[in-house]
Amino acid sequence: MAKSRLGVIGGSGLYDLPGLANPRWEHVPTPWGEPSDLLHFGELDGLEMVFLPRHGRGHRIPPTEIDYRANIDALKRVGVTDVVSISACGSFRDELSPGTFVLVDQFIDRTFAREKSFFGTGCVAHVSFAHPVSPGLADLVEAAAQAEDIPVRRGGTYLVMEGPQFSTLAESHLYRSWGCDVIGMTNMPEAKLAREAELCYATVAMVTDYDCWHPDHGDVDVPSILRTVADNGEKARRLIARLARDFPREHPPCPIGSDLALETAIITPPDA
Ligand code: ADE
Repeated sequence: MAKSRLGVIGGSGLYDLPGLANPRWEHVPTPWGEPSDLLHFGELDGLEMVFLPRHGRGHRIPPTEIDYRANIDALKRVGVTDVVSISACGSFRDELSPGTFVLVDQFIDRTFAREKSFFGTGCVAHVSFAHPVSPGLADLVEAAAQAEDIPVRRGGTYLVMEGPQFSTLAESHLYRSWGCDVIGMTNMPEAKLAREAELCYATVAMVTDYDCWHPDHGDVDVPSILRTVADNGEKARRLIARLARDFPREHPPCPIGSDLALETAIITPPDA
């Protein structure tokens, strides 16, 4: 079995992972372009960790401009086996109030201005993606949250919008009518590319607002998102620290085969 190395992609308000032993920021070039920032390497409780701030330190890169291929490829190149994404999101449900952590298990991808695959002309691949989140990794995140007394909701559908503007009221109502639970701008194509890279992937969606549909809450704005992320950042860091502590040091096979996704995906024959 492969040795585990845990990758963490931090979203709005999460730009570093304090407490790493032997910390170092390193440039990892890729053929796709530049990752959002240097990668932050280190160990937590002896587990090798790699952190990447999705928008770069200082939050310089908007969702559409993030080079998701470079980010995922850089993590793959340095031996990451599992990726936990931490992402601020809006809520479409009364009971998912700001500060709630949702371990989403489905996505609806409404993005349209991003490079979404490592494959294309010359080598065509279609990975299975009915189940975009690795349940084994989500189990580990859930167990870590329980051990830390951090309430999490297991399961939910994350609508990924292009942005950068927030939704109109009509869109917010539409996504609610589709049964979506949360909304954000960044988990696609990140999750698709993680699958193509045969990485296990799970998202901790941190609810920061009620978007704009809720009659008793104001429309989402940046200060309210940053306030909630600041109030809950410590919880997210505790969750990651516990996850690292309890993470299996030998990477177990993924129950849905995310770690072997290309074995059934490539349609172009090797000699074509
Ligand atoms: N990120 C945090 N809250 C959001 C919202 N309401 N819509 C899109 N992205 C978000």
